[in-house]
Amino acid sequence: MTTGVDLGQPQAQAIRSDEDVVRVRQLVRSVAVAVKLSLVDQTKVVTAASELARNTLVYGGGGSVEVMIADNGRRKGVQIVFDDSGPGIPDLDLALTDGYTTGGGLGLGLSGARRLVDEFQIETSAESGTRITVTKWSR
Ligand SMILES: Nc1ncnc2c1ncn2[C@@H]1O[C@H](COP(=O)(O)OP(=O)(O)OP(=O)(O)O)[C@@H](O)[C@H]1O
Ligand SMILES: [Mg+2]
Repeated sequence: MTTGVDLGQPQAQAIRSDEDVVRVRQLVRSVAVAVKLSLVDQTKVVTAASELARNTLVYGGGGSVEVMIADNGRRKGVQIVFDDSGPGIPDLDLALTDGYTTGGGLGLGLSGARRLVDEFQIETSAESGTRITVTKWSR
């Protein structure tokens, strides 16, 4: 299939609307297929990306994402970086607790996303907002 998109290059996508969240899901799915993740792992990383994109939109006030192929010499994977300039997350341990929400959600997005990927890194501050990097490797 020709999509006109070079998945060998990092793909940037704004996150400003529900439609953008759908685009993020599609982009992550495409890269997951390109690096031959299993169907189950594709679904895990797409689900994680969906939750993180939604948080970027709702709590970060919008932002951006970059989706790229990761390669550690042994395996390939999908790496996704979410960025916002929102208020930051004051207490990370609390935010990563199942059921904790400040927005009337289920409080399962962040904690669930962490369990669905292989690598999960958060940098957050009131000054610079929040950057979350996740990686899912093929096995
Ligand atoms: N990008 C962000 N910027 C600021 N705060 C955030 C961000 N992402 C998450 N948070 C904070 O972490 C809390 C937990 O996030 P999480 O995704 O687990 O739950 P939720 O979004 O409230 O509910 P759910 O995702 O289950 O619908 C949020 O309620 C919010 O306070
Ligand atoms: Mg959430």
